[in-house]
Amino acid sequence: MHKKIIIGTPLSPSATKVMLLGSGELGKEVIIALQRLGVETIAVDRYPNAPGHQVAHRAHVINMTDAGALRDLVEREQPHIIVPEIEAIATDMLVEIEKDGLARVIPTARAAQLTMNREFIRCLAAETLRLPTSPYAFASSVAELRAAIDYGIGYPCVVKPVMSSSGKGQSKIDNAGEVERAWDHAASGSRVDQGRVIVEGFVDFEYEITQLTVRAMDSNGQIETHFCEPIGHVQIHGDYVESWQPQFMSEPALKRARDIAGKVTANLGGLGIFGVELFIKGDDVWFSEVSPRPHDTGMVTMCSQFQNEFELHARALLGLPVCTKLMMPGASAVIYGGLEASAIGFAGIDEALLVPQSDLRLFGKPESFPKRRMGVVLATGTDTREARLRARLAAGKVVPVKV
Ligand SMILES: Nc1ncnc2c1ncn2[C@@H]1O[C@H](COP(=O)(O)OP(=O)(O)OP(=O)(O)O)[C@@H](O)[C@H]1O
Ligand SMILES: [Mg+2]
Repeated sequence: MHKKIIIGTPLSPSATKVMLLGSGELGKEVIIALQRLGVETIAVDRYPNAPGHQVAHRAHVINMTDAGALRDLVEREQPHIIVPEIEAIATDMLVEIEKDGLARVIPTARAAQLTMNREFIRCLAAETLRLPTSPYAFASSVAELRAAIDYGIGYPCVVKPVMSSSGKGQSKIDNAGEVERAWDHAASGSRVDQGRVIVEGFVDFEYEITQLTVRAMDSNGQIETHFCEPIGHVQIHGDYVESWQPQFMSEPALKRARDIAGKVTANLGGLGIFGVELFIKGDDVWFSEVSPRPHDTGMVTMCSQFQNEFELHARALLGLPVCTKLMMPGASAVIYGGLEASAIGFAGIDEALLVPQSDLRLFGKPESFPKRRMGVVLATGTDTREARLRARLAAGKVVPVKV
């Protein structure tokens, strides 16, 4: 039966309370979308004054990988809904919280648990769901890594810690002389488990996309799957620098991409948006990984869609209807910190915003370092080529400065 959705009044006993675990630039936008719907928001991060902290009703600083600290905070705040925004969370505790009926986890606690470890999600995708992926193996020592490459994966290949994000600890290697360095690099970039890596055969793709996929309630109270237009992007050292929407795809490739995205999100279940990362060559499509939350490359939807990925997530997780329609072609370009300093400034914004149909988000992060993502430029155009040119042009005018 269709359940009636009621949103209460924030800061009153009737409030609908949502807790964000992780309050970076993506969490900040989810919070803004929830605020607009009259939801009471609680932002959690590992450091004070994180972007999302600055726009929420309440802010907390805890170590989210500490299961006890996480449970304590949830018991104190009693949110109805918990929205993980990052991978580094004590996900076993999320499973327990969900099981004990303390809060609903978005999309599900199991999805958060499976996607935080490349081994779990890769095995689910390739072995259970039989989706096409790069060849892969796992290794717990340099010797195992070497053997996995020699007896199957071959060169070139990509080595990644099983638990990491934003390209941390990841390297592409072309010959046996580089194996040891890749292993050491993985150990240094790993988030939790120091001792395990995935090695993937290098996929010589033509382009890669994020297929944003939304699981939302339809008018009969059934979960329906919606697809956004594909987002193309450029990654440098495993981190996104530019994205655009729509990415043109052949009919068969688009159909395959959506089939893969539909299958993996159906298995993960629950309500919310997912970023399904896919590699494409001709009509062939490979599943790479999936985030059960808004995706960094999806920031482009802040200018290209009627409802951006954060609004889609907010609506879906509340059980509200969504519309994934494209508004106009758009692009995003990342602004890096460039400097190692706190409380930096940004010059050139006036010039940047003179670029036609451009817009800007500065995340408000208290600390900058050279490769830290501090902001993003958005631009629309008559096609993605024009939108990309504008976004790049405007981003190039923004200069981080010491103040
Ligand atoms: N097997 C592969 N073959 C070719 N390129 C790859 C392969 N694996 C990763 N890459 C490249 O590296 C990028 C980052 O890889 P991946 O998404 O696995 O890392 P990540 O640390 O999870 O990054 P993020 O958190 O930014 O998504 C991919 O988007 C792709 O450009
Ligand atoms: Mg990725």
